[in-house]
Amino acid sequence: MTTVLSAAPHAVATAVDLLVRGQVVALPTETVYGLAADATDAEAVARIFEAKNRPSFDPLIVHVRSWEQLQGVADVTEPLVHDLADKYWPGPLTFVLPKRDSIPDLVTSGSSQVAVRMPAHPVFREVLQAFGKPLAAPSANRFGRISPTEAGHVLESLGGKIPLILDGGPCAMGIESTIVRISDGTIYVLRDGPVSREELLRFGYPVSGASDSAAPGQLASHYAPRKSLSLVNSAADIPPEWHQESGFLAFKSPSQTDFGAIEVLSPTGDIVEAAARLFGCLHRLDAAPVARLWAERVPSDGLGRAIMDRLTRASVR
Ligand code: TXA
Ligand code: MG
Repeated sequence: MTTVLSAAPHAVATAVDLLVRGQVVALPTETVYGLAADATDAEAVARIFEAKNRPSFDPLIVHVRSWEQLQGVADVTEPLVHDLADKYWPGPLTFVLPKRDSIPDLVTSGSSQVAVRMPAHPVFREVLQAFGKPLAAPSANRFGRISPTEAGHVLESLGGKIPLILDGGPCAMGIESTIVRISDGTIYVLRDGPVSREELLRFGYPVSGASDSAAPGQLASHYAPRKSLSLVNSAADIPPEWHQESGFLAFKSPSQTDFGAIEVLSPTGDIVEAAARLFGCLHRLDAAPVARLWAERVPSDGLGRAIMDRLTRASVR
């Protein structure tokens, strides 16, 4: 049985109680909902993999409350990490850093490097504060499926498999954190996210896409709706005879609206709004009575690059 509690103080205490007992709990973050467990307890972490049906070659992000807690998790000697964290923490930027022994190998899939971020969501922070230890947390969805940006999405995907979901409302950003690794004076972007490459470039170091060393869990097919999804430049590219049986994910207010189902990411074409709504729109289209889905491409600079990354993976079968 999965209980959903709105995130009041007693709910935080219930969550911490479960975490202390080595259980998993779904918690809101500013990016997407996470499925959290004690990052220092291999057995608790194994429960995450089990609930998500996640392959163990896909490592987890460790979430910390403070700089002090970070130092117990990873070795932070690179000055650029300090500069970037000063600007973006707490927030949606994850660093891949040399791991300390406190973190079991299962968290990193055997790698000597651990991914770490300091989340900004007040509910997640309260739980970290009360629990006192770092939390490993992947997105709280079945492996390979659409990421959850509302408590209801988590319930739909993991209901019956996890004991508790703390409902903190819809996630403000709606797209997973940017993951970076810094080496040889270069910022390698392993996953595009809310902190864009353009923003990272302002720190004066080269920023590279690192397709050869992309994050290990970044499979070509990911974030998949159950229905097949194709990318188009605009609604005009979809054969009219298919409109009725199709769900269309429009970037801006579309010129054609005769689809079986339609979702608009942002009527005004605001890319921040589009990112925040992306996974919610995909969840709704997936549930709509249509046979297949189409998504309109968005401009692929800034935050649009992260949206296009998710849409492209969602379209691969
Ligand atoms: O915004 C987020 O990052 C959300 C919230 C819950 O914090 N978390 C999230 O976790 O998106 P997840 O597990 O869905 O994606 C984390 C990805 C992994 O698939 C993997 O590609 C990468 O982070 N990753 C984790 N540890 C890594 C490591 N040691 N080295 C390289 N990549 C790593
Ligand atoms: Mg995920």
